This record gives sequence, structure tokens and C-alpha cells, in this order.
Amino acid sequence: MNLKGRDFLKLLDYTPEEIEYLVDLSADLKFMKKKGVLVDKLRGKNVALIFEKTSTRTRCSFEVAAHDLGMGTTYLDPKGSQIGKKESIADTARVLGRMFDGIEYRGFEQSKVEELAKHAEVPVWNGLTNEFHPTQMIADLLTIKEKLGRIKGVKVVYMGDARYNMANSWMVTCAKMGMHLTLCSNKNYFPDPELVKQCKDIAAKTGGSITLTEDPIEGTKDKDVVYTDVWVSMGEPDEAWVERIRDLSPYQVNKEVMDRAGKDAIFMHCLPAYHDLKTEIGKEKGEQFGFEALEVTDEVFESEQSVVFDEAENRMHTIKAIMAATLGAF
Ligand code: CP
Ligand code: NVA
Repeated sequence: MNLKGRDFLKLLDYTPEEIEYLVDLSADLKFMKKKGVLVDKLRGKNVALIFEKTSTRTRCSFEVAAHDLGMGTTYLDPKGSQIGKKESIADTARVLGRMFDGIEYRGFEQSKVEELAKHAEVPVWNGLTNEFHPTQMIADLLTIKEKLGRIKGVKVVYMGDARYNMANSWMVTCAKMGMHLTLCSNKNYFPDPELVKQCKDIAAKTGGSITLTEDPIEGTKDKDVVYTDVWVSMGEPDEAWVERIRDLSPYQVNKEVMDRAGKDAIFMHCLPAYHDLKTEIGKEKGEQFGFEALEVTDEVFESEQSVVFDEAENRMHTIKAIMAATLGAF
């Protein structure tokens, strides 16, 4: 498998074999890290990390993974660069492409990261856009493989906001990998029908399936993975909370949902999560709307079935694999 020079913008651009290769390479790199074996095969290289939205996991994963591989990093924060304000994406790409060996970009529209990749002569990695979060998906697949021992045929239910980056990414992933996805949400939050069709066509060839339902009882029965994400994503207006809580609270992941999924089901969340009132926003919205938690209850989040911190750790090992493969270390 040779991924040298490839961008990593969305999983639609990758074959099932390439995706599985990245998952397995991540597992190998994780094993080496745990054994204390240095894999600094990219010594002398440098990567730029552009964040137009905030981050904990993705930024730290890119920084730690780059350092482990022997690379230098430069972090450009949401305010600290000229991007988009004084300099176009195309010009930025041509400048950074001359100085760095790879560029990570977290921002708003997918078209921006695609534009960056078009004009940069080095690999560009999507660290999250409104439409897709592909590095998260490799971490989620690694976590599923570690916990369940398989990927193909796994039954996933995604609860909550089904028209944004995480649900879109899950549709593509399940379609490509022959998994069964149920998107369980209010119909006003169903994904773009064109992407649904595209994913259903792919799933028809891989043995996977995509189902959309508004029924949280039927939709959560007998599943291997229960997944959710925040109801209001980064960059969305504060006013959205009122409608989201009204429309999406029937899709909260709670103990009844996990019981219906089954005792062997695992709970996953890309994080950060509003599972209690211990964050500024969680406290404000919880008190305003009379909730103890939002998209997932604390009981589920802290339960034995929850694998969210293994999933978060896997962000680092998988981002390392993505950089290593596309920069030609393997
Ligand atoms: N899951 C994820 O992307 O987390 P951050 O926003 O902290 O990077
Ligand atoms: N949907 C969330 C994902 C965070 C990792 C957001 O875009 O804010």
C-alpha cells in the first residue's frame, strides 16, 4: 500500500482497503509507542497546523504524533494568521507548501480544505470541516476493531444531529466498510439526500446499509455501537440551542437506549460531551432548559460500556498513521 503524497480530505476519496490499512498501521504504531520504541522516521520534516476553530484532541494529536515521528510543528490559531482575511486560501497554500512538508486544516466549509489541497504541493489533512471529520473516523474504526474485534458487519446507531460533520462521516465510513448504520434523529436533521444516495450506492456494493429513522425505540434496538455528538456544533449560533433541545432531546443517549442496544454494545462520542453541568455551556444550557445532561447522560458516559477515552487516545495513534503514510514513512 503506497499513500505517499496523498491528501486526506474525506473518506469518500479512499478505498476500503486503504482505510483498513490506515487502521492497521495505527494499531502497529500504538503498539510501538506502548513498548517505548521510537518511530521517528520523519526527522527533519515540518508540518503546519491551521485551526480556524478551537480544538483539544485534534491539535494535541497532531502535535504529539508529529513530535513522535521526529517532525517540527507550527500552530496557526483562529486569530493568528492572515488566512481568509488578508490572504486567500490559494495563496496561503502556495506559501505554506514551500515551507512545510504537510498541512493540517480545521475550518468551516469543506470547499476550503479542498481548495487548500488543490494549491499546496504537499499533503493536506482535514482536521474537521462543517461537512466531514475524517481523522476522527480512523480513530473510531480502530477503537471498534480493538473492542469488538471486527469492522465489517458492525451495527452502529448514530443519535442526534444527523446533518453535520460526524453523521456525514459515519455514513461514508459505514458505506465504505460494509457496516450497518442507523441515523436516528428528527427528520429536520436528516443529512443531505444526495450524500445519502451516494452512500447507499456504495453500501450496496460493500454489503453495508444506511437507514434513517425518527423512531428512537426501533432505531436503537440490537446495536453494537451507540454514537452521539453535540447538538450544536462549533461555529453555529447560540440561538440554535432552543430548537436543538426541543427537537433532539428525544434522541439523548441514556440507560434505556443502551439497554435496548444490548449489554455488549459500546458507547462512543467524538468529544467534547455535555454529559453533566460541569462545563460553562453545559451548566448554562442545562439550567436554562432543566436538564442534568444534554446529548448523553452522565450515567452512560461514565459506565462500563463507554469507551470514549480509549477513542480519544486513538486520535493520536491514527493521526500519526495518516501523517506517516501520506508523507511516505512506510
Ligand atoms: N473530537 C475532536 O475533534 O475533538 P477536538 O475538537 O477537541 O479536536
Ligand atoms: N460536530 C462537532 C464535532 C466536534 C469534534 C463540531 O463540529 O463541533
